[in-house]
Amino acid sequence: MTLTHRLARRDDVDALKALMDAAISELQKAFLSEGQIASSRAIMGLDTQLIDDGTYFIVEADGNLAGCGGWSRRATLYGGDQSSGRSAVLLDPSMDAARIRAMYTHPRYARKGVGRLILSFCEEAARSEGFKKVELMATMAGEPLYRAAGYESHERVFDDRGGVAVPLLRMSKSL
Ligand SMILES: CC(C)(COP(=O)(O)OP(=O)(O)OC[C@H]1O[C@@H](n2cnc3c(N)ncnc32)[C@H](O)[C@@H]1OP(=O)(O)O)[C@@H](O)C(=O)NCCC(=O)NCCS
Repeated sequence: MTLTHRLARRDDVDALKALMDAAISELQKAFLSEGQIASSRAIMGLDTQLIDDGTYFIVEADGNLAGCGGWSRRATLYGGDQSSGRSAVLLDPSMDAARIRAMYTHPRYARKGVGRLILSFCEEAARSEGFKKVELMATMAGEPLYRAAGYESHERVFDDRGGVAVPLLRMSKSL
């Protein structure tokens, strides 16, 4: 399997949404109830700001979309276009942690190193813009990946904007 990567474009949006839908439905099953998975759709998904900022990566496996994920120099910590409370305020690399955002792997390519690879691109890009730290809000399905990549856990929170409380974990890493 040959993995290649590039920045996502606006014309990738439909394919990205389909990939995210499959990842949310399938890869969270081991971690959340059906009700929590349905509820998590309100607080997960595509944030097109990342595509417009040129900070959203796609990994392809032999030409097929295998995964996506990005980072941000803006304040929003998590959520998709449909989520309330997003903030486009720019962060200060000397004081603030860059955000790791919207990591998804297609179930067909899970546990093949796609997520870890995208995370490394994000960390490298944030570092090259002067950020010293990265922060994220992990789903329960995402936590093992971030832990394996050296992230530390902070507070656990519950987000019930989708109707059922979904557990999340704030995590960070020094670059
Ligand atoms: C989280 C997610 C992106 C991980 O993607 P992935 O491409 O399968 O991850 P990788 O193959 O790079 O995993 C790297 C390491 O992370 C850990 N890991 C990843 N998924 C794991 C799982 N389900 N259970 C246990 N460990 C896991 C392992 O240590 C793994 O290394 P190994 O396979 O050699 O043991 C994917 O599961 C996903 O799309 N989940 C649903 C959406 C989601 O919750 N995204 C996170 C938002 S914060």
